[in-house]
Amino acid sequence: MAESAATADHYKAAAAKAAIELVKPGMRLGLGTGSTAYHFVEEVGARVRDGLKVICVPTSEATHAHAKSLNIPLTTLDDTPQLDLTVDGADEIDDQLRLIKGGGGALLREKIVATASERMVVIADDSKVSKTLGSHPLPIEVVRFGLKATMHLIEALAAEAGCEGDIRLRPGNGDLPFVTDQGNLIVDCAFPRIAEPEVLAFALTRVPGVVEHGLFLGLCDMAIVGGARGVNVLRHPGA
Ligand code: A5P
Repeated sequence: MAESAATADHYKAAAAKAAIELVKPGMRLGLGTGSTAYHFVEEVGARVRDGLKVICVPTSEATHAHAKSLNIPLTTLDDTPQLDLTVDGADEIDDQLRLIKGGGGALLREKIVATASERMVVIADDSKVSKTLGSHPLPIEVVRFGLKATMHLIEALAAEAGCEGDIRLRPGNGDLPFVTDQGNLIVDCAFPRIAEPEVLAFALTRVPGVVEHGLFLGLCDMAIVGGARGVNVLRHPGA
């Protein structure tokens, strides 16, 4: 039976509660985006209220507003270019801690912030874990100019990389497309099986209209996954 949204949210909250234990005084933190990261921001807010000193870089306007409402001290990567730890959600996690991200449309800032961090920890409910990436469509952030040409090239190069599936522009309000915090568009690619994420990622770097893609490879150090049996910590095989 499919898990209810309330149950999944309970698992997300449990993962966030476990992740807050990794936060130490004085840390420079990246704050992720989405319904799971929301719980982590709440945890950081509660600790800050109790006197914890941290400084944080949000990965989206939504997280910025949320963190600000909790009086969490905020900075930017311009003022604080290196972070200690980023905690973020994910749309999918495989057994090598490769991720699909961007379901909420924040993948570009999320990848910049995660890359600027010494460690990235993913928090998730257990529905996000899969053996092979592809159960969640892959979001790709693209510029508006030449959209159709960019989508054709994504389709062609992804096929060469062994990935075929429906590629569509993410809809926003009314007839308008979804627009990211950076003013770009998102193309969602339903590739049912991404057998070689590195090959696909490399192919996508050859598309000039692609700003960034939602494959996070070699970035995640640990995943904290909430489920019916509590919280499970996933690390790299062999780590
Ligand atoms: C935001 O763009 C995404 O990368 C989110 O981190 C991801 O979609 C996970 O979101 P949820 O925690 O809401 O499932």
